[in-house]
Amino acid sequence: MGSFKIAVLDGDGIGPEVIKQGIKVLDRVGVRFGHTFHYHFAPVGAVAIDQTGDPLPPETLALCKESDAIFFGAIGHPRFDNDPTLKVRPEQGLLRLRKELGLYANLRPVAGYAQLTHLSPLRPERMVGVDMLIVRELTGGTYFGEKGRRDGGNTAYDTCIYSRAEVERIVQVGFEAARNRRGKLTLVDKANVMESSRLWREVTQEMAANNPDVALNYMFVDNAAMQLILNPAQFDVIVTDNLFGDILSDASSVLAGSLGLLPSSSVGAAVGMFEPIHGSWPEGAGQDRANPVATILSAAMLLDHLGLVAEGDAVRHAVNTTLESGVGTEDLHPQHKVGTNAMGDLIADALGA
Ligand code: IPM
Ligand code: MN
Repeated sequence: MGSFKIAVLDGDGIGPEVIKQGIKVLDRVGVRFGHTFHYHFAPVGAVAIDQTGDPLPPETLALCKESDAIFFGAIGHPRFDNDPTLKVRPEQGLLRLRKELGLYANLRPVAGYAQLTHLSPLRPERMVGVDMLIVRELTGGTYFGEKGRRDGGNTAYDTCIYSRAEVERIVQVGFEAARNRRGKLTLVDKANVMESSRLWREVTQEMAANNPDVALNYMFVDNAAMQLILNPAQFDVIVTDNLFGDILSDASSVLAGSLGLLPSSSVGAAVGMFEPIHGSWPEGAGQDRANPVATILSAAMLLDHLGLVAEGDAVRHAVNTTLESGVGTEDLHPQHKVGTNAMGDLIADALGA
C-alpha cells in the first residue's frame, strides 16, 4: 500500500489529453492494488514559455526534484520550429530537465503487436519476433558538448564529447538490461570515423570481461540503420550515444505500426521520468484523436520504476487485451475507431477494478 507523489508535466499539444488517460489508468491501478497517487501539475515547454517566458520554470524543476516520479506528456509547437534566430525554445525545457535531474539513461522498448503487423511499413514476416530495447545515452554527446559560431557567425560547430565514466554507466545499463532479456547487447557507434566512438568501443570491450553471460557485438550506425529495416528481429538490446539513439529510436518506433504505441523512460537518478516517445501533434490537439497507448504504457514503466512490477504488468496486460479485442484510435483502426478518452476508458476497464 503505497502513497506516491507524481509530478505531471503534461506540456503542449496532445500532451494534456493523453496524460489524462494515463492518470485514469494509474487511478484504477490505485483502486485495484490499494495505492494512492498524488498528482502535482506544472508547466513545461511552449505553455511554460507563454506563461513565464521560461520553458522550464524553477518551480517546475523544484517539483520534479521532490517527487517520486515525473509523468511527462509532450512538448513543442510549430511556431518555434522554423526560426533559427529564436533564443528560447520548448525543447530546451526537456533538455535541461534531463541534465539537471541526471537522467542519463533513456530506455525505449520496441515490440510488434501480432494483430497490428498489417500497419507496419515492413512486410509482416519481418516483424515476427521483433522485441528490442534501445538504450540511449541522454545527458552527454553532441547535445551537450560545446557549440557555437566563429568567423562572424559563418562557421558553426557542435562537439561530441564523452568521458569514460559517462560511457561506463550507460553501457552498464545496457549489459544489465540484456541480462534480464535475451542476453544480447549491440553497441552502435561510428568507431571507424569518430574518436568519441572509439572510446565507447574501448570501454565496452573492457566491460565485456565482467559480463561474460551477455553476447556482445558491435555495429556501425549506418549499418544499424539498415539492419533495423532489413532484420529488426536480430536485436535484443542496443546501446548507443545521444544523437545516434535519437535517430535510431525514432526510426524503430514506426516498425510497430504507429508512433502512438511506444513508451519510454528516462532514468539514472533518484527520480525517473516517463513519457510517450511521440511528439505534441499540435494539429490533433483537443480533438480526442490521439492514441493514449504510448502514454499508458509509459505509466506502466513508471509503476515498474516505483517497484510496483505486478501493477505495471497489469497495465500492459490491460493494453494487450484491449488491442486484441480489435478496438483502437484512428491510427490503428481508421474504419472502426474510438476517441482518446474512450480508449482510455476501455483500458482502465480492462484493469477490472
Ligand atoms: C526525443 C526528442 C528530443 C530529443 C527533442 C524534443 C529535443 O526528439 O526525446 O527524442 O532530440 O532528444
Ligand atoms: Mn527524438
